[in-house]
Amino acid sequence: MGLEMSQKAIKSVKQLDIDDFKILEAIERGMRSHEHVPVKIISIISGFPEDEVVFILDKLHQLELIIRWIGAYVGFELNSNGHDSLALNTLVRTNVIEAIGMPIGVGKESDVYEALTPEKRRVVIKFHRLGRISFRQTRRLRTYTAGKKHLSWLQESQIAARKEYVALKRIHPIISSVPEPIGQNRHCVVMELIEGEELSNILEIEEPTAILTEIIEIVKTIFRSCEIIHADLSEFNILITPEYSTIIIDWPQWINKKHPNAEAILKRDLNNVLTFFKKRFEISEDLIKVQNFIQHG
Ligand SMILES: Nc1ncnc2c1ncn2[C@@H]1O[C@H](COP(=O)(O)OP(=O)(O)O)[C@@H](O)[C@H]1O
Ligand SMILES: [Mg+2]
Repeated sequence: MGLEMSQKAIKSVKQLDIDDFKILEAIERGMRSHEHVPVKIISIISGFPEDEVVFILDKLHQLELIIRWIGAYVGFELNSNGHDSLALNTLVRTNVIEAIGMPIGVGKESDVYEALTPEKRRVVIKFHRLGRISFRQTRRLRTYTAGKKHLSWLQESQIAARKEYVALKRIHPIISSVPEPIGQNRHCVVMELIEGEELSNILEIEEPTAILTEIIEIVKTIFRSCEIIHADLSEFNILITPEYSTIIIDWPQWINKKHPNAEAILKRDLNNVLTFFKKRFEISEDLIKVQNFIQHG
């Protein structure tokens, strides 16, 4: 479903003009204070007269970029196509990307596509999608927004993208074992395309011990030099390149090493990795020993 939606957004962007985007933006802004944004508010925010707003809303509705809500009053909200269109338009206008290509991954909380920069470099665009699925997920995602109430899927997705971008910006200059960050807007992160296989898909490998050692070294450097703990580390978020480099992806949940639960979360990250290597490759490493090495060794 997610993929279809992003593709629809890509098609829509080409059919929209500046005024259409202004109305989409006005709805987005209105959604900070209104669940369903009335025409009047859209008119005030955009500076467009109401009859013009209504005309453009019709077009946006036909393109399936907005939802029309009819209740005590008529209100509008963006759907995820509309949100995607806004982000894509900004990323294209600011020369971060020029075009978008094939889907390369659908995660639980994102859609990932190949994209092309104006310099024709192949990159990745990740659309964060929070609040798409279930309860279990929303509970987990509370960590992004602790203390702040009533955030919409729209705001939560944007916070996740910004947070992931911050992690990549901090880590990549220190160690290139994460994708290079290229740009960010709203719920999207543009980053280096990693040609690699998810560790979870690798059934056999020549030197699994060397891979495990490298993962531990990377986690250590990121912990020590960047003060960052991944907090969702597992075989699904580790890519192995054809040259056997290890790249760690999927950073929106990271925490600072001074976080009150840092030790437990670091331990959980390491335990995920060690358990995988034990099951898949029959390599045993002691969790406490590894944890000590990262924190103090
Ligand atoms: N920079 C990248 N290069 C290549 N593939 C990627 C990249 N980022 C993500 N992917 C692919 O997309 C999938 C989902 O991305 P991920 O960042 O793990 O998000 P999610 O939170 O949805 O799991 C990954 O498992 C991977 O296969
Ligand atoms: Mg992932």
